Amino acid sequence: MKIVTAYSGGLDTSCMIPWLKENYGGADILAFTGDLGQGEDLPAIKAKALRTGASKAFVEDLQEQFINEFIWPAVRAGALYEGTYPLHTALGRPLLAKKLVDVALAEGADGVAHGCTGKGNDQVRFEVTIKALAPHLKILAPLRTWELTTRESEVEYAQARGVEVPVTIEKPFSIDQNIWGCAIECGEMEDLWNEPPPDAWRMTKDPVTAPRGSVELVIGFEQGIPVSVDGVALGGVKLITQLNELAGEYGVGRIDMVENRVVGLKSREVYEAPGASLIHLAHTELERVCLDRATFNYKRRVSQDFANIIYDGQWFGPLRECLQAFIEESQRTVTGEIRLRVSAGLAQVTGRKSPYSLYDTGLATYSHGDTFNRSMAEGFLAIYGLPYKTVAEIRRAKGHPELKK
Ligand code: ARG
Repeated sequence: MKIVTAYSGGLDTSCMIPWLKENYGGADILAFTGDLGQGEDLPAIKAKALRTGASKAFVEDLQEQFINEFIWPAVRAGALYEGTYPLHTALGRPLLAKKLVDVALAEGADGVAHGCTGKGNDQVRFEVTIKALAPHLKILAPLRTWELTTRESEVEYAQARGVEVPVTIEKPFSIDQNIWGCAIECGEMEDLWNEPPPDAWRMTKDPVTAPRGSVELVIGFEQGIPVSVDGVALGGVKLITQLNELAGEYGVGRIDMVENRVVGLKSREVYEAPGASLIHLAHTELERVCLDRATFNYKRRVSQDFANIIYDGQWFGPLRECLQAFIEESQRTVTGEIRLRVSAGLAQVTGRKSPYSLYDTGLATYSHGDTFNRSMAEGFLAIYGLPYKTVAEIRRAKGHPELKK
């Protein structure tokens, strides 16, 4: 049997390589690692996969593809799960699962394996994607069934097989990081009343010790996609990295929330999304300027549905394609610049500019040059208020209890 396994270089997926061999009749194990901007040493991870017993190890830089095909559509959609989480993990999984499938098909493998646990969302995202793209592949999830249920048992298992165990004393957190953000779970944060400990954070500094004062920056968008910072055109990786650094320095983008998982439980999630916070804030503001009222409000409902689709692992389903078509159409005029002021723990919009702005100073002004014909308001209100007037009259005629209070 030939199995392609998703490999991160951590303890779980390192134990998986010998475990799969032992439990699947000496199976041939190939390892796949995708670079989504997690900031790890990828050549070292590749070498470790081979030392750990993989017959082949594939490492691929997926950052551009991640940004263009997953992050930008999510930005254009305004996708924030439960109104808050920018979905960095949820967006990365379908891409990693797709690549796993690509390698499995190219190498003629019988199955794929992932290192997700049995009570998280990530197993859903991996497995739904694999079923959508290559339903004949066998899916193995050793962490759901194996006997290595504690870190100690994994360490013992690894040492007995000559698999290197990370030497650093691991923080008691489960961390998933990529260019779009970072998730930190477990440890003392499992008690909802506990504040995340200072050593939990990786992408953002404590706003309390952030630099005094503030900085201003301008993010430029073209059709809903961020393309420049302070007038300098930047590719996706550079743009997000630069904004991550700037917002991170000021402690902007820390999120501490309780969320509803697909598998039915609530979990406490701590996220860092420095660049993502700035980009979503600016993008939504630009939409406020460029979209008409009906489209803006309708799109807010679509944002929620789109976020749920991403969270629920349904990226490769038809509804995502349909909604994305609507979103793309809505973004045709979302072009322009948003100025932000960033200070300790805070990002605020201070200016907006767009060739497609629907804001009309003449209509809006309360000073000279007013072009709004206020004499029309009386007639408008006579008709706009007509249904309420009619209801009140009929209720009065019938002695409706509401009128007797
Ligand atoms: N709750 C988030 C999600 O389902 C993040 C999961 C991150 N995983 C982790 N190992 N910390 O998308």
